Amino acid sequence: MADVLASVMPAQWSVPQALKEAMDYSLQAGGKRLRPLLVIAACEALGGSREAALPVAAAIEMVHTYSLIHDDLPAMDNDDFRRGKPTNHKVFGEAAAILAGDALLTHAFYSVVQASRKHGVPAENVLSIVEDLAEMAGPRGMVGGQVADMEGEQGMTDLEQLQYIHLHKTGDLIIFSLLAGGRIAGASVRQLEALRGFGTRIGLAFQIQDDILDLVGDESKLGKSTGSDIKQQKVTYPYFIGLDASREEVERLTEEARRMVLEGGFQDPQRLLEIAEYLMKRDH
Ligand code: IPE
Ligand code: IPE
Ligand code: MG
Ligand code: MG
Ligand code: MG
Repeated sequence: MADVLASVMPAQWSVPQALKEAMDYSLQAGGKRLRPLLVIAACEALGGSREAALPVAAAIEMVHTYSLIHDDLPAMDNDDFRRGKPTNHKVFGEAAAILAGDALLTHAFYSVVQASRKHGVPAENVLSIVEDLAEMAGPRGMVGGQVADMEGEQGMTDLEQLQYIHLHKTGDLIIFSLLAGGRIAGASVRQLEALRGFGTRIGLAFQIQDDILDLVGDESKLGKSTGSDIKQQKVTYPYFIGLDASREEVERLTEEARRMVLEGGFQDPQRLLEIAEYLMKRDH
């Protein structure tokens, strides 16, 4: 994945050096690469080709990375560390960070299309992937979730609204990754629905775990500042139901997700199950 992310733009393109640097800084800083992994795992669970999944895997990591750069800006969560390094705006300034995010988002769509151009994924399937990405990353997806997150207020927001925030700000890119992997492998409607059900549950569990780690995690392992939610007076799962019940909810959702994959009719579901298990226990 590292080499794929190192060369996301055609070498002959004329792109300002400063923009390339700001994009690469965050993209190559590391991170768990969960979403690309899910694209590949869903594709391989159905016997699809890993090679063909790579442009879409790179695309979702670009969208995710853009969302992190913007999430850390002073106008949003105002955070100084990300992926073990100073945040993008701390190094390049706010204008460059905003534009690096814009460029990553836009370029992601170029990358998705290469699944068809370079690897022969049927154009009809790629059309659905482009449509899903616009839906899940845009106003009804991640951006909608981020707006609801900014509007959230302790004492005002209820648990149902918090679920909306988590399902969209975080769940939707995870659901997208699984559906896209399925679409590359030519998944049936039933298999796509199983991937959606699995993704909805691990996506919610993932953000609950993120909330837990913001409270009790280790900054050096996480590579980002903890205590950000308290500083920003965010509504989170631990805020509502406490740490123990939040941990139980992560386990319950993971078990439900497991069941959905096992009943989904996949040739080789093992990798997806391993990822769900790893996420439940993660400390970073
Ligand atoms: C952090 O995502 C932001 C959330 C959606 C919770 P990750 O925890 O996947 O961040 P990286 O990619 O590993 O840096
Ligand atoms: C971020 O949620 C979700 C997106 C970036 C879309 P958080 O604000 O909780 O993520 P962290 O904790 O800063 O990684
Ligand atoms: Mg945030
Ligand atoms: Mg944040
Ligand atoms: Mg967080």
